[in-house]
Amino acid sequence: MKKEDKLKAIKATLNRYDRPYGMAVDEYLDLCEFIDEHKIKNVADVGVGKGYSHLFMKELTNAENVYAIDGYVDSNYTIGERLPYDTHIYFLKIPDDIDYFEKFLYKNKIDFVLLDDGHHEDIVTLEVLACYNAKVKFIAIHDVNTRTRRCIERIRRLYGKEWHLNLKYNGLVIYEIGEDIVKLLSKM
Ligand SMILES: C[S@@+](CC[C@H](N)C(=O)[O-])C[C@H]1O[C@@H](n2cnc3c(N)ncnc32)[C@H](O)[C@@H]1O
Repeated sequence: MKKEDKLKAIKATLNRYDRPYGMAVDEYLDLCEFIDEHKIKNVADVGVGKGYSHLFMKELTNAENVYAIDGYVDSNYTIGERLPYDTHIYFLKIPDDIDYFEKFLYKNKIDFVLLDDGHHEDIVTLEVLACYNAKVKFIAIHDVNTRTRRCIERIRRLYGKEWHLNLKYNGLVIYEIGEDIVKLLSKM
């Protein structure tokens, strides 16, 4: 699907609802473009919310599998309300289920993870390390702020890994994970 068609589809979906919730239009578009440009096969969408990121990555990209992961069921049943009706949500709460999370990524050969859940330094640090151990190739972190940036520093100090700024991506920060080098792909 062409970039302009993806953009139209994202806008049409977000405009259909009174209170769009989640990421910005450009960020959804960047995600979908990145997945296709890098021929990503297996995606883990961590933090489902209403389900927009999952819906777009599933319907507007060539990814073969997009897994939905979330740690909560809210009392209004709004989590996942935009997901296709037959989508299975894997209920994993981080940090409690971090070991299972790592195994899940490894077992399903996940090559791209979107982290849009805890937004807390401790949580993001654990998740990034789980991705590294499970040999995930790329991670995208949404709402990167000083706290999530600190997690990168922390990993570098603890594990001596290098993080390089490589390529800029809008709003989202996308990292490429190598054998011992982790590249930061970011437009910020
Ligand atoms: C901002 S929403 C995700 C929005 C979604 N990515 C989108 O663009 O449509 C954040 C989600 O993360 C989940 N979440 C928050 N903390 C979590 C944790 N510690 N473990 C697992 N899920 C968590 C919440 O239940 C919520 O559904």
